[in-house]
Amino acid sequence: MDAIITTDLTKCFQDVPALGNLNLRIKAGTVFGFLGPNGAGKTTTIRLLLGLLQPSAGSAEVMGWSVAHDARHIRERVGVLLEHHGLYERLSAYDNLAYFADIYHLEASVKEQRIKELLGSIRCWERRHEKAGSWSKGMKQKLAIARALIHDPELVFLDEPTSGLDPAAAHQLRDELVELVKQAGKTIFITTHNLEEAEKVCDQVGVIDRGQLLATGSPSELRGSFSRPKVIITIGGGAGAAEVADGPEVAGGAEKPSPLAAKALAALKHVSGVQPVAQQSVATRGLVAENRISVELSDPDSVPAIIRALVAAEIPIQEVHKVKASLEDVFLSLTQEEGSPPSHTTVTNADTGTAADTGTAAGTSTAATTAAQQKGGSQ
Ligand SMILES: Nc1ncnc2c1ncn2[C@@H]1O[C@H](COP(=O)(O)OP(=O)(O)OP(=O)(O)O)[C@@H](O)[C@H]1O
Ligand SMILES: [Mg+2]
Repeated sequence: MDAIITTDLTKCFQDVPALGNLNLRIKAGTVFGFLGPNGAGKTTTIRLLLGLLQPSAGSAEVMGWSVAHDARHIRERVGVLLEHHGLYERLSAYDNLAYFADIYHLEASVKEQRIKELLGSIRCWERRHEKAGSWSKGMKQKLAIARALIHDPELVFLDEPTSGLDPAAAHQLRDELVELVKQAGKTIFITTHNLEEAEKVCDQVGVIDRGQLLATGSPSELRGSFSRPKVIITIGGGAGAAEVADGPEVAGGAEKPSPLAAKALAALKHVSGVQPVAQQSVATRGLVAENRISVELSDPDSVPAIIRALVAAEIPIQEVHKVKASLEDVFLSLTQEEGSPPSHTTVTNADTGTAADTGTAAGTSTAATTAAQQKGGSQ
């Protein structure tokens, strides 16, 4: 069963397209990662799926409910963490969760148990009586995630859930999300800028840029289709190094390759099946370092030819390491096209756009806070 289906979902803000003809199918019980640079349209998509924004064209279904007609049902049944945490700063952590538990009509005994469980899992049970406003950014974020899960929803939208978390907390949250899905069959729609995280957590990912979906698939499918394997070669240390080591190994410590690396790159220029290596540093793109060069392989069988060329040029080779492309490589290759917008699909005609949504659209309401507002609460 599909938890989310979008059909040509499109959103323009004052005739400016933010999302164009999005067609997605997300299976229930999976983790879907929506990846894209700033302003790509990720949050806009979530808002559309929650009915917090009206589409300019197209349609969507969430758990079988139409976003156009049943948005309220959807918001009552899903868990949501949007970019703003949506907590009540003057309430204690406990009371925040209790408040949202009441909105979702949790029975008293379930409510107590759930709050204890969730505050325990974020290791904040002992601090439950402190005001949420006094908590650090990361702690608030964890509390906001607990709030999104309070009613044990089948489907959870998490917009950059690990932003502001320290590496250990992010790692723990990542493990918990995986656990949640595997054990309880939940569906998670997550946006993140942390590609390593996406690679570990997501069953499927979609890459979006400038409102256009560029690719979908499992992380390994995307790695296979959109980027090439690489070979990392550590060079130097021998007689060859001494011959060319007139200057510093890496001038300026970054952009300029060492004389030895430059000599190696020159030797590889005419090897077929090898992508000439850009001269950048490990620190920025992982391509050239003091004594390491990285070579993209368009032909996976070209490693012997690379070695032969380096040996012929008398480059001392210390180590050769073949690596698979990472999701980050895929992301960069898909989203770093300069100039015109991505050409896979046509951006929807701006004429179909509606004026920018204000009110809930421009605000930071979550499903829960929206539900709170419907109930007469205010923040
Ligand atoms: N309420 C609004 N009014 C006008 N333009 C908007 C509105 N909301 C979003 N946009 C525009 O739509 C585009 C997509 O924004 P969106 O917030 O969906 O990006 P994002 O992928 O979530 O980015 P980020 O990674 O920075 O959170 C941007 O150009 C943004 O300026
Ligand atoms: Mg966003």
